[in-house]
Amino acid sequence: MLRVGILTSGGDCQALNATMRGVVKGLYQNRDDLEIYGFLEGYKGLIHGNYQKMEAKDFSGILTKGGTILGTSRQPFKLMRVIGEDGIDKVKAMKDTYKKLKLDCLVVLGGNGTQKTANLLSEEGLNVVSLPKTIDNDIYGTEVTFGFQSAVDIATSAIDCIHTTADSHGRVFIVEVMGHKVGWLTLYAGIAGGADVILLPEIPYDIDNVIQAIERRKNQGKRFTILAVAEGAISKEDASLSKKAYKEKVKQRAYPTVSYEIAQQILEKTGQEVRVTVPGHTQRGGGPCAYDRVLSTRLGAKAAEMILNKEYGYMASVVNGEISKTKLSQVAGTLKMVDPESEMIKEARLLGISFGDKKI
Ligand code: F6P
Repeated sequence: MLRVGILTSGGDCQALNATMRGVVKGLYQNRDDLEIYGFLEGYKGLIHGNYQKMEAKDFSGILTKGGTILGTSRQPFKLMRVIGEDGIDKVKAMKDTYKKLKLDCLVVLGGNGTQKTANLLSEEGLNVVSLPKTIDNDIYGTEVTFGFQSAVDIATSAIDCIHTTADSHGRVFIVEVMGHKVGWLTLYAGIAGGADVILLPEIPYDIDNVIQAIERRKNQGKRFTILAVAEGAISKEDASLSKKAYKEKVKQRAYPTVSYEIAQQILEKTGQEVRVTVPGHTQRGGGPCAYDRVLSTRLGAKAAEMILNKEYGYMASVVNGEISKTKLSQVAGTLKMVDPESEMIKEARLLGISFGDKKI
């Protein structure tokens, strides 16, 4: 008998179901003696022994379905070893559930925090195989994560829609794209949507450089300017603060997000009309795009292969364009960030896109 537990943890994305389908299809095709246990709402289900015995049919017809059939929740890694008010030792509870169900393996789909907990459980002796989920594309050890391309498509279409109305009214528009710590989504959607200014957490901006780029376009006779701004975009001044001081400053900020602050600064310094659009969680919503369906299916097949071969302690990944596997110990704890010196940034600069760090 092969007993496999599976869970989805952290923020959702479009291709979680497609990926689970890939894993389970791969297992059912090769084993008749299979039991699958789906833990509900991520690690919470594993901690509290809240699970459902799944059938092959539960994973059928979900390739195109967004969200997650298992539900998800955020269980911060930093609190995993902290005993809360409920007195539960979370790590022990997860190990107990695993042992009680006599699992051979735990399959975990999630982002950075989830991968850290997956590594912790692997170090604690559980057989773990993980899969890289996130619209942020910031998981170390894989070139791409599932969910990223679907989110890029949605954020790009938001920028596309803004183009027509920005042109009609001759306005400056800010489209705020998800990503607090990394700017992959903003960079790709910004380039795909033809944004004129792209502000990323990895490249701190100076508002005067942003304004110079807007004025430059105006002087070129352009009626509008579009800025793609990451949730975590940061000014040079703020980037020089300590983490603590910056967090304090953000708490005191009079605006809901950085985009509104930038909008006010542009209005004050140029007199130009500025509007902010926040596609927000639509970027994680709906079904997976075709690219993600293929990626999820392939990564799912890789995870199934690892389980069948009893190769544990790895994340299914993409390395040098090929489906591969990366040790969880290498994945955990490192963020994959945009390199400000990368070719992609250089190419964008060559085309006149401003990143707000220098004059163009
Ligand atoms: O990690 C994915 C992500 O969508 C980030 O891009 C975003 O900043 C965050 O989650 C939003 O989190 P929540 O869904 O908890 O509001």
